[in-house]
Amino acid sequence: MIRSTVRGVGCALPRKIMRNTDFEGIVETSDEWIIQRTGIRQRHIASDDETTASLAEAAARDALANAGLTPDDIDLIVLATSTPNNTFPATAVEVQDRLGMRHGFAFDMQAVCSGFVYAVSTADMYIRGGMARRVLVIGSETFSRILDWSDRSTCVLFGDGAGALVLEAAEGEGTIADRGLLAASLRSDGAHKEKLYVDGGPSTTGTVGHLRMEGREVFKHAVAMITDVIESTFSQAGITADDLDWFVPHQANRRIIDGSARKLGIAEEKVVVTVDKHGNTSAASVPLALCEAARDGRIKKGDLVLLEAMGGGFTWGAVLLRW
Ligand code: UT7
Repeated sequence: MIRSTVRGVGCALPRKIMRNTDFEGIVETSDEWIIQRTGIRQRHIASDDETTASLAEAAARDALANAGLTPDDIDLIVLATSTPNNTFPATAVEVQDRLGMRHGFAFDMQAVCSGFVYAVSTADMYIRGGMARRVLVIGSETFSRILDWSDRSTCVLFGDGAGALVLEAAEGEGTIADRGLLAASLRSDGAHKEKLYVDGGPSTTGTVGHLRMEGREVFKHAVAMITDVIESTFSQAGITADDLDWFVPHQANRRIIDGSARKLGIAEEKVVVTVDKHGNTSAASVPLALCEAARDGRIKKGDLVLLEAMGGGFTWGAVLLRW
């Protein structure tokens, strides 16, 4: 059977780093509160010349170089973002142009923080359906542009960045020993849309709007939703937490990451954590964490890797793959 295998990984972060102490003159907060409640120590913030498209392009070029490929080898770009350069066209199309790619097709995927997990699963469908052989899957965000910088309960939490994978069709045996995507579980429930949303849009206010979140409410649901999709992914694949080599969760809050790992019985040393350095980069958080752990030699070819995310909508999902 056809499997969607990882051929390359890449990432890009804005030049500017903002530390917790840098907020002390902006809102009433402290380094201590932010670290204790979230685990975040710093985040990268895009400068005027850095956009979702430019970060996505940099991550895509990094992933292509890592794969030993050029844009000519790519059939499809799926870009997960909630902070597109423009309302339309899709930022994926802008990235396609920036890469000089004059063939194939490209589109954006909007599932907020779960965007990358949705995008990987979508790319897998195109690959297994035979419509694409190689797909660039990108998560890229500039959440700093939609934050209310006077709201201490949200502005300290988010950061900017991008990560990318090159997925490639390969023949597998149909067992969990295969490399590539092995199982996935996606969910959404729009009843929760008011708990995490942006208060603007083309069809309502005609403005971009600002991020609004009832943090405590999101927190309350997070661990249960995450464990639900992960358990479904485990049962599809017929594995348990012990079989995993790496758990690469969405990086929103260290307490949510630790709580989910504990509930699922995933050993602490298997958990990839970047929230301390990147903050919550929404759809970019999982590929940024993957990029870091693959580049520093933790994730190796053949390792069993579990991706997970949960965010606005609510949307949530998990993907199991063998690197
Ligand atoms: O990626 C999408 C998914 N998003 C998430 O997963 C986020 C989920 N939520 C969270 O991570 C946490 O709920 C937060 C980090 C947002 C907040 O942590 P919390 O422990 O739930 O705090 P809280 O909202 O219950 O607030 C506790 C106190 C409040 O003061 P009072 O009402 O107890 O007097 C807040 O006003 O902390 C206050 N507070 C702050 N204090 C200092 C809120 N933000 C800050 C701040 N600095 N930045």
